[in-house]
Amino acid sequence: MDDRLLNENINGDEFTDELSLRPERLNQYIGQDKIKHNLDVFIQAAKLREESLDHVLLYGPPGLGKTTLANIIANELEVNIKTTSGPTIERPGDLAAILSSLSPGDVLFIDEIHRLSRVVEEVLYPAMEDFVLDIVVGKGEEARSIRIDLPPFTLVGATTRAGSLSAPLRDRFGVHLRLDYYNQKELQEVIKRTADVFEVQIDQNSINELAMRSRGTPRIANRLLRRVRDFAQVKNNGIIDYETSKSSLDLLQVDQYGLDHIDHKILRAIVERYNGGPVGLDTIAVSIGEERVTLEDVYEPYLIQKGFLERTTRGRKATALVYDHFNLPYPNEKRQ
Ligand code: ADE
Repeated sequence: MDDRLLNENINGDEFTDELSLRPERLNQYIGQDKIKHNLDVFIQAAKLREESLDHVLLYGPPGLGKTTLANIIANELEVNIKTTSGPTIERPGDLAAILSSLSPGDVLFIDEIHRLSRVVEEVLYPAMEDFVLDIVVGKGEEARSIRIDLPPFTLVGATTRAGSLSAPLRDRFGVHLRLDYYNQKELQEVIKRTADVFEVQIDQNSINELAMRSRGTPRIANRLLRRVRDFAQVKNNGIIDYETSKSSLDLLQVDQYGLDHIDHKILRAIVERYNGGPVGLDTIAVSIGEERVTLEDVYEPYLIQKGFLERTTRGRKATALVYDHFNLPYPNEKRQ
């Protein structure tokens, strides 16, 4: 099989770090308690029955640990995992090659599963449902369909947008799990754990400050910790104290709500150019030079969750909190 279809050879320091930072077992994974509890039950049940685990769909904003969970599922099931992604699988043959390389019980992880093409999806349906591959051989009048049995396997699909999945695909997952943003305590635990892996000294105030500015997202917490560690190394003998972390986070342009300069651009555009909204997402995207999908998947969910943004039928609206945040007067006509 073409090795490019599977993402097995990840290189680079940050990736290596990232992999060693990832918990390998369910009991090492911080947060997402309901998901962990449910998965634990489903995994144990599958093992007791000596069956493959039902297909699992993981969805939620980026950076919350979907890939980590997929790997944990395979570890807990004591099976191999093959990892690929929606855009990598271009043709039905690509998917057929991956599927026929699986061993019984294996996990196939497809990241960004909402980006699978229609024709590839069609191959996936019978594979998921009956563990068979229907492939067409020959062309024109010679064409015929042959059926190949597959070993039972577990498909773990991850997506930032469950709404973009076609209904037939979504319905073929027996387990649907939605990941939520992490609370402060959970983020603090993630940061402590990462600092231990890095063997770096950090005080509780710095941990709290980092957690506050990580927009509920472990990947961001770990990225900020890396950058703060850089500042500490160059300017403070490698020790992360409150002064160092606060000043470096200010230099990194993340505010006390974890909003970065793009969040600021979005909110300022709505307030300053569109009188606080409502304004369509496409208009905002063009106005600040970002892609609509990035705003929708990455930025908007957190801004809505934190109460900065409201979604209405006529577009997005900035709330009073935004005016507060930027020290701007809240227009009288907007008061209810
Ligand atoms: N590193 C990143 N995310 C994590 C999590 N949820 N639990 C433990 N370590 C992590």
